[in-house]
Amino acid sequence: MLFFTFVILILFNSIYSLNNGLGKTPQMGWNSWNHFGCSINEEIIRSTTDALISTGLAQAGYTYVNIDDCWASSRDPTTNFIIPDPIGFPSGIASLADYVHSRGLLFGLYSDAGYKTCAGRPGSFGYEEIDAQVYAQWKVDYLKYDNCNSLLTKKTIKERYESMRDALNRTGRPIFYSACEWGVMLPALWFRTIANSWRTTMDISDHWYSMLLNIDINDLFADFAAPHGFNDPDMLEIGNGGMTLNEYRTHMSLWSIAKAPLLIGCDVRNLSKESLEILTNSEIIDINQDSLGIQGKKIRIDLTHDTEVWAGPLADGSKAVVAFNRANNITQTIVVLFTDLGWQLTSRVKVRDLWLHKDLGEFQGNYTAYNIESHGVQMLKMTLITL
Ligand code: GLA
Repeated sequence: MLFFTFVILILFNSIYSLNNGLGKTPQMGWNSWNHFGCSINEEIIRSTTDALISTGLAQAGYTYVNIDDCWASSRDPTTNFIIPDPIGFPSGIASLADYVHSRGLLFGLYSDAGYKTCAGRPGSFGYEEIDAQVYAQWKVDYLKYDNCNSLLTKKTIKERYESMRDALNRTGRPIFYSACEWGVMLPALWFRTIANSWRTTMDISDHWYSMLLNIDINDLFADFAAPHGFNDPDMLEIGNGGMTLNEYRTHMSLWSIAKAPLLIGCDVRNLSKESLEILTNSEIIDINQDSLGIQGKKIRIDLTHDTEVWAGPLADGSKAVVAFNRANNITQTIVVLFTDLGWQLTSRVKVRDLWLHKDLGEFQGNYTAYNIESHGVQMLKMTLITL
């Protein structure tokens, strides 16, 4: 009987999750694209690695150092090995990965399931096996896999993303597999056996409405995320300057409660004290990294006032809650009903403000968040005392 249960469990796991052991909680780290685009080089990656450590970001959990597009230049005509851009990466990728590892962090690369990457560098289509082997030799820990220039391959998304998954698995090295298919074929519905995370949206930009659009779309797929397979509404823009600090705090709160990957997309070598504070608030990060790994979602939408309440369960039985004022130019009051959280009208609940690290007291039936600024949030942890 025990044996039978064991076999069922193994089967269940291999069918319903990627099962490379990675991504129990959403990945955290840094990625070059949002701030640097193609203007990257090994010096930026080394100094960013150093800055992740000296700022305390690494200590706060941001451990992947991920290079996005534009690190590769061509393929060796005889061996087909991928060749790093000799101008930006003259020391090669292996030595860069060694450097990142020597500082105690993890190293990520980018490629594409088509003939070329989005920026026109060589893609991995047809070279999955050889690329995966090279990544493993270089000691790569993470692969973001894009979807540009793939139409002429005449292969489906499923075939192309599975092909790289299998090649990565065959290396025997655990490599986090982050699919970047932009949500076009609704990957949330079927990528659980393929990747550790999947983009649900097109690219984010450093603007309020872009951030909102991505997290709103991502929310539609909340029920499909779970440990080892998370929805990805794209990387963080905090620190890049296109939103107010208040809006960046909202960005961080929504990504955190939605169990989105927390991949910093700014220049961490030149980070303001305020942006650093937003990125390193430990109680906000704890919600994102909660071991239950259940994506929080919108549980009440007030269209008249343009406010929302988002909530999700936590491993200790508490709830993470975001009271969100989406409206322009108006400060508002938002009521969180305990019945919306699955508790009773008579429930007594302890409420803590996570941004301020402050207990707000005990409340019965509901909690009212006063003075929530336009585009702002109050992010809370609510713990049931008596039903
Ligand atoms: C696509 C991806 C982005 C980034 C660029 C690089 O647009 O969605 O996240 O990787 O390609 O060219």
